Amino acid sequence: MYNQPMLRDGALEGKTIIVTGGGTGLGRSMAKYFLELGANVVIASRKMEVLEKTAQELTTETGGKVLPIACDARKYFEVEEVLQKSIEHFGAVHGLVNNAAGNFISPTEHLSHKGFDVVVDIVLKGTYNFTLAVGKYWIAEKIKGTIMNIVTTYAWTGSGYVVPSAAAKAGVLAITRSLAVEWGAKYGIRSNAIAPGPFPTAGAWERLFPEEAMGKELSAKLHPTTRVPLKRVGEHQELANLAAFLMSDFSSYINGEVITIDGGEWLQGAGEFSNLNEVPDEKWQEIAMAVRGKSK
Ligand code: HXC
Ligand code: NAP
Repeated sequence: MYNQPMLRDGALEGKTIIVTGGGTGLGRSMAKYFLELGANVVIASRKMEVLEKTAQELTTETGGKVLPIACDARKYFEVEEVLQKSIEHFGAVHGLVNNAAGNFISPTEHLSHKGFDVVVDIVLKGTYNFTLAVGKYWIAEKIKGTIMNIVTTYAWTGSGYVVPSAAAKAGVLAITRSLAVEWGAKYGIRSNAIAPGPFPTAGAWERLFPEEAMGKELSAKLHPTTRVPLKRVGEHQELANLAAFLMSDFSSYINGEVITIDGGEWLQGAGEFSNLNEVPDEKWQEIAMAVRGKSK
């Protein structure tokens, strides 16, 4: 049930949505569901051959209208071109999903300054470039658009070994909340975010969970499911359902929110005693007796 499409047919009809990084992974899955719900979708990222292949597949799979446009989100003028081409093609733009990202695991002291830059620039600069270009257009045209940013749960906790990504996602979260108030009040533009836990994609898995390089034992020990109370990874349709809801008018009163979809992962890491999940049921009676004894 949880991996079934959730919204009613036509829920996004009449909307044109830009999905950055929409050629692969979670961006592709969100784009696909938006198309199924009647939206026009623009997918934008660096690799035109990947975008074109995805656009063809999505057209066949959904019958919807999808426009691939190559751009580097770090370059403001390329971002403005994406917007202009989208307006020329579809007449208007109503939604923006800032999903493009760069990331890899590394001890921070092994990073060069360029290694730090590349991740922060794709994630933070890429997001504010698109947000600024599209926001200025909405304000000029009096369009009450919707922005949805894909962050991570370590945007608020921080995380070792992905420090550039953590810093950049924290910045994106700050932009989300700041504009929810500023542009919400003045222009009716909504800003929200989704913080996913582990959802298998080639892009993330190759760079964050390189099983072969880590070896069998270490990768089994470190597998994402070991940290998730619900003991599974996320399914793309679950995230697409949430994203479509946040991009639709059904969520009109949700503004400035970040919705976590991680099976409880980050809280398990945060809770002082969460690792007591490891204690077998039969041991609890013995523990209770010992603790009560001490209390007397
Ligand atoms: C250390 C590295 C490195 C690595 C690159 N660099 N990879 N340093 N360890 N693994 C350094 C390079 O040496 C170089 O610095 C600088 O970073 C730029 O590298 P390039 O290869 O020239 O960059 P580029 O070709 O632009 O590629 C960008 C990228 C790449 C971020 C490095 O991985 C990419 O294209 N990623 C896009 C997709 C992606 O990352 N998807 C995953 C998102 S998942 P020097 O000094 O040598 O020049 C995600 C989920 C999080 O965010 C949460 C999961 C639960
Ligand atoms: P992915 O498939 O690698 O997606 C990243 C996308 O960003 C790619 O399509 C890539 O396309 C695009 N991109 C990278 N650099 C770009 C640039 N400079 N300009 C424009 N586009 C660029 O990985 P994913 O797992 O689906 O990640 C999608 C989003 O979910 C990211 O924001 C990520 O942080 C977030 N997330 C994922 C997980 C997970 O478990 N998968 C968990 C938490 C958060 P090109 O290479 O063509 O540019």
